[in-house]
Amino acid sequence: MRLIFIGPPGAGKGTQAKIISERLNLKHISTGDLLRENLQNKTALGLKAKEYMDKGELVPDNLVIEIVKEVIKTNKNFIMDGFPRTINQAIAFDEMLKNLSLSIDKVFYFSIGEEEVIKRISGRRVCPKCGAVYHVIYKKPKNDEMCDFDGEKLIQRDDDKEEVVRNRFKVYVTQTEPVLNYYKEKSLLIEIDASLAPEKVTNIIIEALR
Ligand code: AP5
Repeated sequence: MRLIFIGPPGAGKGTQAKIISERLNLKHISTGDLLRENLQNKTALGLKAKEYMDKGELVPDNLVIEIVKEVIKTNKNFIMDGFPRTINQAIAFDEMLKNLSLSIDKVFYFSIGEEEVIKRISGRRVCPKCGAVYHVIYKKPKNDEMCDFDGEKLIQRDDDKEEVVRNRFKVYVTQTEPVLNYYKEKSLLIEIDASLAPEKVTNIIIEALR
């Protein structure tokens, strides 16, 4: 099965992709995580991507497309989280899948407003070691500011400052929203209310996949 999760920053795509991928045994592919991994390893790609990520801009299509091309060669059942984000990426993705004789089963659109996004992202904390995601109110770690899995001190992402998040939202509206129509025309798009509690969102997705 191949799914795409698409929506504004902070809509809960990563949270749900982790839960659903574990339940359905799918590979969770997050282009944001892959870019951050490159940055942590100080690769040329990671350092280039940082220039864009810190400002809340999209990393150039060609860089992201190359990353995805590599990953899907060895992972044929996946949830794609945060890709495609432009029409060019969507077209390139179709081409990649066609070459592998694969297709997308469903595209989930996580619908949520800007102010809820700001609330969620300002409270997000992540583990720098294992990438686990928390929220200071909605998903507290067991011990104050420490990762439940490895005890590492939680941090805030560099691009989670309010002014950067507002720009990410703007970029989403101008560059990513057109992608929704692209999949709607292919009758693949399912809109879900991402402002609901996490368990409810999970149930809606599972139900839609039955
Ligand atoms: P990326 O890492 O993909 O960020 P994003 O899409 O902006 O999404 P987020 O990770 O911020 O949010 P999310 O929807 O996963 O929410 P989460 O589950 O964490 O991209 C970062 C940057 O990389 C981009 O700006 C760009 O520069 C670059 N990039 C990445 N992909 C690219 C591409 N394809 N092309 C070009 N550039 C690219 O949840 C958020 C918070 O809310 C958490 O604290 C969570 O605990 C909490 N939460 C989750 N669900 C709920 C709920 N239902 N109720 C209450 N709280 C909730």
